[in-house]
Amino acid sequence: MAVKLTNDSLYFVNEHLIAYVTGVNLEFMFDVQNVPMILLAVVAFICLYFLYGVFFRPLNRVRLLGEFGYLSDGKLSKKEVANRVKRRRAVGEIPPVYPNGWFGLLESWQIKVGESKAVSALGQELAVFRDTKGEVHILDAYCPHMGAHLAVGGRVVDNCLECPFHGWRFRGHDGKCTFIPYADKVPEVSKIKSWTSMELNGWIYIWHHAEGAEPYWKLPELEEVTSGAWQYKGRTEHYINAHIEEVPENGADVAHLKMVHEPFIAAGVDLLTMWNKYWSWGKHSWQADWSQLPEPEGHIGSMKVVHDLVLFGIPLPFLKLKVNALQIGPGVVYLMFESFFGKGVFIHNLIPVEPIVQKLIHNIYIQWYVPNIVAKFFMLGEAIHIERDIMIWNNKTYNSKPVYSKSKQCGLISRHRRWYSQFYSEHSPRLKFQKDTLDW
Ligand code: FES
Ligand SMILES: [Fe+2]
Repeated sequence: MAVKLTNDSLYFVNEHLIAYVTGVNLEFMFDVQNVPMILLAVVAFICLYFLYGVFFRPLNRVRLLGEFGYLSDGKLSKKEVANRVKRRRAVGEIPPVYPNGWFGLLESWQIKVGESKAVSALGQELAVFRDTKGEVHILDAYCPHMGAHLAVGGRVVDNCLECPFHGWRFRGHDGKCTFIPYADKVPEVSKIKSWTSMELNGWIYIWHHAEGAEPYWKLPELEEVTSGAWQYKGRTEHYINAHIEEVPENGADVAHLKMVHEPFIAAGVDLLTMWNKYWSWGKHSWQADWSQLPEPEGHIGSMKVVHDLVLFGIPLPFLKLKVNALQIGPGVVYLMFESFFGKGVFIHNLIPVEPIVQKLIHNIYIQWYVPNIVAKFFMLGEAIHIERDIMIWNNKTYNSKPVYSKSKQCGLISRHRRWYSQFYSEHSPRLKFQKDTLDW
């Protein structure tokens, strides 16, 4: 017997077939009376997703150059203002632009097994790759054959990086060319510079020395980080338009703490508006000192800080932070802190990506039982204070001959300058001015 399908019966069959396959009851969905419930479900889902992010996902705050840290005139865009300040600012008689020491080039997660990555830093174009055994190597980027960039399309083959242009292969640990696909013999001189590197505490470090010296000090391992006793809870990434030394010098500059870091973090990062009266019931109080360690740890500076958050004149005991910040060489700081909630560390890595443009990344690790939200609050507080410093750094000049007062505060800055000068040597690259452009 033939069955005749009308339009209505076809609709009925379709609707139930979809409901059967997808599990969604269309009749329920299309009923107008159910719209508020559907909206409520969507809002609840968005809220849950947001709360999941706040409570369980690590923080990732990235602020590019020009996004903040400049005075706005209300007419130009933020980027235009940043460019104008960058062009007009008196740079000052700055020290060499790339000091000697270990620098954090990449976070370990940024390069997986068998991957290569192009990185521009310290005035170098670099090809970083992780070989098939998991070891990281850093090579000069340009192929000695015809100059192709090895990390722009270059594939990892065993422990070598293969040039994407004609397929020559360069060994990671010594930069030697081991294979040319169309020649029986590899020329003896076919070699590329392989940089001394190490992987530690979730970072890939490069050793940079203007005289070609091998490392004469090491970065210490943070056992709590590598063992997993302290857990990763997030990162911040900032770009700064200043000479590299300005950033560590801040650690010895205890007099700026009151001016720049006393207003409550809720008042924001703008130096002009952060003193507004609406947030004057909260403030940060700081006690700090700086010293350098004796030899053989003369490359380490130590800043001891006690921070209190004071609300309505009362310091909150559970937001007291005791910090021992170890500045290890020119670009790495371990800020070890103790709080009511537990212990942790901010790993701070600073690297020049241009002569006077710095990339600054912080990672936070904290004892596993400290709630995510607390760690993120610490990290956010740190970021807001750094962003205030950045507004100073982006606009200041480097004063090579400061007028000092007779005070402990000014004495610490001059001591820090003497200490930091150990990271410059005879051939450290300097910034040179050519006509009205910056070139080094
Ligand atoms: S340019 Fe690299 S192999 Fe030719
Ligand atoms: Fe500061």
